[in-house]
Amino acid sequence: MSGFSIVFFIGMMMCGACSAQLSPTFYATSCPNVSSIVRDVVQRQSDVRLGAKIIRLHFHDCFVNGCDGSVLLDVADGEKGAFANGGLDGFEVIDDIKTALENACPGRVSCADILAIASEILVSSVGGPNWQVQLGRRDNTTANRAGADANLPLANDGFDVVQQKFADQGLDSIDLVALSGAHTFGQARCITFRDRLYDFGGSGNPDADLDATYLQTLRQNCPDQDSANNIGNNLDPTTPNGFDNNYFTNLQNNRGLLQSDQELFSTTGADTVAIVNRFAGSQTQFFDAFGESMIKMGNISPLTGNNGEIRTNCRRVN
Ligand code: HEM
Ligand SMILES: *[C@@H]1O[C@H](CO)[C@@H](O)[C@H](O)[C@H]1NC(C)=O
Ligand SMILES: *[C@@H]1O[C@H](CO)[C@@H](O)[C@H](O)[C@H]1NC(C)=O
Repeated sequence: MSGFSIVFFIGMMMCGACSAQLSPTFYATSCPNVSSIVRDVVQRQSDVRLGAKIIRLHFHDCFVNGCDGSVLLDVADGEKGAFANGGLDGFEVIDDIKTALENACPGRVSCADILAIASEILVSSVGGPNWQVQLGRRDNTTANRAGADANLPLANDGFDVVQQKFADQGLDSIDLVALSGAHTFGQARCITFRDRLYDFGGSGNPDADLDATYLQTLRQNCPDQDSANNIGNNLDPTTPNGFDNNYFTNLQNNRGLLQSDQELFSTTGADTVAIVNRFAGSQTQFFDAFGESMIKMGNISPLTGNNGEIRTNCRRVN
């Protein structure tokens, strides 16, 4: 074997399930207008939170058996019922995109790919970066509730656990910080951060890494147990609906909404602190890293070739 072949071979081995097979031009002949069809459907929506809902769906899809559309299935014991999937939304728009694509190119474009394509279109449409979306994923015929419970990070997991859950998917600290930057838009229910406001870690006190003014604002919308499902809590209180690097300056000012957000900056000695500072200082560096990490996340164990199927309805197996 030549030196090059050996390096190439080792590279392929290390890549393993990570798919060299996905490609940006996968639908060039089978559904050339796929992007404009998806764009047309999402541009008809008036929901300012749509991008946040869809990219969260893509993330929660990819972390459970890879990016295989499993999160979208309406089946008994499906992933939608997992605790970490509370508040997931945007399924109707995925249905509309699927219908439009089935009309234009029946049986061609997977539901898993729809999530990837729509995420990029929606992020860039509210000021975020563009990236070259890799395509060719196929849809799984089963969902995995236990996998969702085990793999998806929870807001109060603690820094080490969150970092480990990303590492388990082949994602490093740069990916963790960059992808957490998706919390530059969208909202969270009170239940996902309430303990930080009143009784952090059973201490009887609020989280010390929470700005006092911000704490008061959050308490107004989350006054008691009955407010658990209140929304209206912006993950980025500075520019709630736009995609920018204010999320990182918020963290520097103790204005991260979730424990998992704030700990990227407030965990003493963590390698994520310097990365937060870098992205706070340069939106360009954040955007470049975000695109790269989205491609990496989108490459988690896709089904390709003859594996899985192209669902005709994203909620059901064929
Ligand atoms: C680092 C670990 C992460 C944790 C612990 C976490 C946790 C959460 C939680 C608890 C919510 C609020 C859910 C609700 O109350 O409905 C949320 C919302 C959201 N997450 Fe994450 N998340 C993480 C990483 C990510 C990543 C990697 C992405 C995408 C790349 C993402 C995108 C979003 C978006 C956009 C929302 C807002 C959704 C909406 O407005 O409906 N998150 N996340
Ligand atoms: C594809 O999109 C182009 C412009 O974006 C349009 O002119 C063309 O009619 C579309 N073709 C189909 C088959 O939808
Ligand atoms: C689908 O997901 C299951 C877990 O839910 C996994 O065991 C299986 O290998 C995946 N692939 C296919 C083609 O079904």
